[in-house]
Amino acid sequence: MRRIRNELETDVLVVGSGIAGLSVALHAAQFARVLVVTKREGHESNTNYAQGGIAAALGEDDSLELHERDTLACGAGISDPEAVRVLVEEGPGEIARLLTLGVRFDRDPKLPGILALGREGGHSRRRIVHSKDRTGRAIESVLLKLAQRHPKISILENHIMVDLILDSKHVVGRKRPAARDRVWGAYVLDRATGKIRASAARATVLATGGAGKAYLYTTNPDIATGDGLAAAFRAGAPVANLEFVQFHPTCLFHPEAKSFLISEAVRGEGARLLTTDGRPFMHRYHRLGDLAPRDIVARAIDAEMKRRGDKFVLLDMARLKRRLLLKRFPHITTRVLAFGYDVFNDPIPVVPAAHYVCGGVVTDLDARTAIPGLYACGEVACTGVHGANRLASNSLLEALVFARRAGKAVLGELLSEARAPLPKLPVWRFNGAVAPKEQVIFDHNWDALRRVLWDYMGIVRTDERLRRAATMVGVLRDQIERDYWSYRLDSDLVELRNIGLVADLMVASARRRKESRGLHWNADHPRPLDRAFRKDTILTRQDVR
Ligand code: SIN
Repeated sequence: MRRIRNELETDVLVVGSGIAGLSVALHAAQFARVLVVTKREGHESNTNYAQGGIAAALGEDDSLELHERDTLACGAGISDPEAVRVLVEEGPGEIARLLTLGVRFDRDPKLPGILALGREGGHSRRRIVHSKDRTGRAIESVLLKLAQRHPKISILENHIMVDLILDSKHVVGRKRPAARDRVWGAYVLDRATGKIRASAARATVLATGGAGKAYLYTTNPDIATGDGLAAAFRAGAPVANLEFVQFHPTCLFHPEAKSFLISEAVRGEGARLLTTDGRPFMHRYHRLGDLAPRDIVARAIDAEMKRRGDKFVLLDMARLKRRLLLKRFPHITTRVLAFGYDVFNDPIPVVPAAHYVCGGVVTDLDARTAIPGLYACGEVACTGVHGANRLASNSLLEALVFARRAGKAVLGELLSEARAPLPKLPVWRFNGAVAPKEQVIFDHNWDALRRVLWDYMGIVRTDERLRRAATMVGVLRDQIERDYWSYRLDSDLVELRNIGLVADLMVASARRRKESRGLHWNADHPRPLDRAFRKDTILTRQDVR
């Protein structure tokens, strides 16, 4: 007989504490109790590292139609037009809400009171609202403070989700199985003690961010291990478009810089890409030159590095006035100087790195997944906005817009079933698992996995490379699954299992798309094939182990 205990109970469980998680928590907390579970400290999220800003059609020369047009063009034919419309229409309202909450965005020095608007690749107008070059941090700190002070929000730090709790799998004592399966919260592991607690909730919102750590080189922080994506897939939710991994074109090339991002906004202000002999090259690849969409810039850099046998290209920021660099990009400027590059006088070496997963858990326009009780928003979700490529600075916007919609939908659900008691959940059974003899074997699998994706599923793919990636990821996953069921769980093993599944899903998606579109470039199929492939790549549990 399994022991039953709900150690944590709440109305709404939010997994993740970036802009999406905190926004949905603040919305839902108007009428419900919310528990935010986060695997490190509250502020540690992808959001916190976002430099660029939030795109919104606010300029005098701009319009919703232009923002919509740029987003759809970047999505290369498979964005959902309805989702894009929602995004651009609700964008300006979200900026206004952040201002009301106290987020300080930069103002135009020439037009008092008016927001300064930056420019980034793929945008036909200046429309990036920003807070110097640390926009994500400026938003995160305000939202986190509000959430910490909110009487209805509790934040549980240093806990990682192990798995979602499914009615069919975990709920005990039912006379008859429920007509339709649903999610009732999640099992969460306390990273300090190794204890796993059942967190029961009427609604569960995944806001776990991306999965950049599937790649050897990434702009993402260590937390980006695809936890929500993997858990949702295991629970039976379809995922879509995971072949579309965005590589940010410009990360500092330095052994200790850990792919430090150099915001695209610096090219928006006039910085230029050069080959190592000092020649500009982007004009040869796209009419927008250095401000072409990100997929084109990343591929052009990759091609130039391969053509010339170079390890990096150069980014000339010295073209910008010293005053501008210090005022608009203080964080980037200081970090680059600290790494020993004279950014005021010399071009700096840069390379692309994995940055953003455009696909994710399939949701509707209110962030509902296919499983009742489970929602997703932010990078973990596939709302349909990004299609085959994300327009720069549309991600924070998407997180805000769809988190608000999620909050509304969750409250609607709670009101419709407020009386239903939460089921009693069994305590987690460890199955007598033992501690591993050598922790280092997990590290080796982790490194191998990330190397495989970098080498075989990078900016340019081929059928053969993808075939090899599938074989190698398959072998590693078998090993990781065996470890998962044999050894005592800790957060490293949970993350490794998640990133293994996500890598498998990414490769499986890429192998299905035998064309080139947006971020998915397969040299064996270099053209888009609309008749066969102008659609999402959807994977369900039946498609992949
Ligand atoms: C950047 O600042 O270049 C990154 C912004 C984004 O990923 O949209």
